[in-house]
Amino acid sequence: MMPTKVTIYEVGPRDGLQNEKGVISTEVKVEFIQRLVAAGLPVVEATSFVHPRWVPQLADAADVMTALGESGRGLPVLVPNERGLDRALELGLQHIAIFGSATETFAQKNLNRSLDEQFAMFEPTVTRARDAGLDVRAYVSMCFGDPWEGAVPIDQVVGVGKRLFDLGASQLSLGDTIGVGTAGHVKDLIGGFVAAGMRVDDLAMHFHDTYGQALANTFSALQEGITTYDASAGGLGGCPYAKSATGNLATEDLVWMLDGLGIETGVDLDAVVSTSVWMASHLGRPSPSAVVRALAQS
Ligand code: HMG
Ligand code: MG
Repeated sequence: MMPTKVTIYEVGPRDGLQNEKGVISTEVKVEFIQRLVAAGLPVVEATSFVHPRWVPQLADAADVMTALGESGRGLPVLVPNERGLDRALELGLQHIAIFGSATETFAQKNLNRSLDEQFAMFEPTVTRARDAGLDVRAYVSMCFGDPWEGAVPIDQVVGVGKRLFDLGASQLSLGDTIGVGTAGHVKDLIGGFVAAGMRVDDLAMHFHDTYGQALANTFSALQEGITTYDASAGGLGGCPYAKSATGNLATEDLVWMLDGLGIETGVDLDAVVSTSVWMASHLGRPSPSAVVRALAQS
């Protein structure tokens, strides 16, 4: 059964901006986040407490969260390890997201750890976060294909994903990091998780639109009953450590489709479009989203 209500988990300020070549000022990042919250997006992932040398674009994470103050406390931030958690705790943040890899190669490239070693990094991070009362989301990347290893077997993704979730996460986001997934594969992957005992309510889908499949994949996941979708305003995004990763599913494209299906999101589409047009002026290039282009002209 298709859901009647969907939660959009906005990742533009994090997944979007982590991949930008130019430097975006802290002030613009803060305004971007505030505008997205004001547009009715219920969850806005704000930044990453990763190593600043690994992702210099988000090296100002603490400044961004300090500038947001009280209004930023409830926004999730990416945290890979205990050092990242310490930085988030110092600022009184309440939600973190860890990010694991379903493949050996990407674990090495993105986390400097083997597939198994990544759990040794996440386990104490999640335990300490939970003990401090924080909510933890877990991402698993390369759920469909990996640029170095090719197609990734469903059993492998389910094994890693369940292991990450069972560390104590409240939600598991299934990442199509390089956008190679197709609708049938989405159905089969969700089926694999359900067969392994996971509830659809504990899963979120994280589509990148590299091959133009993100909306079709979303429709497939809706038919499986998934109610949380990650998206990025204007379709910004990509992962600096994944060859060929491009933008996320654009929030506007997602809202347009869900509005058409009569599925409630609480998001003000015009407000997101104007935010993306404003952001595009700071990035110096137009949004790749078809819906932004169409609505910005009308
Ligand atoms: P490492 O070099 O193995 O780190 O990197 P380490 O544990 O050996 O520590 C080395 C030094 O770094 C130490 O300092 C630590 O304190 C420091 P020293 O003692 O030498 O002075 N350090 C830190 N400093 C600040 N913040 C930290 C931190 N951690 C260690 N958090 C590490 C391992 C995980 C840190 C590194 O690989 C890293 O930062 N990786 C992040 C890569 C990343 O952000 N990728 C993009 C996000 S994932 C994504 O986009 C996919 C997703 O969207 C879903 C999808 O699309 O599939 C989520
Ligand atoms: Mg991503």
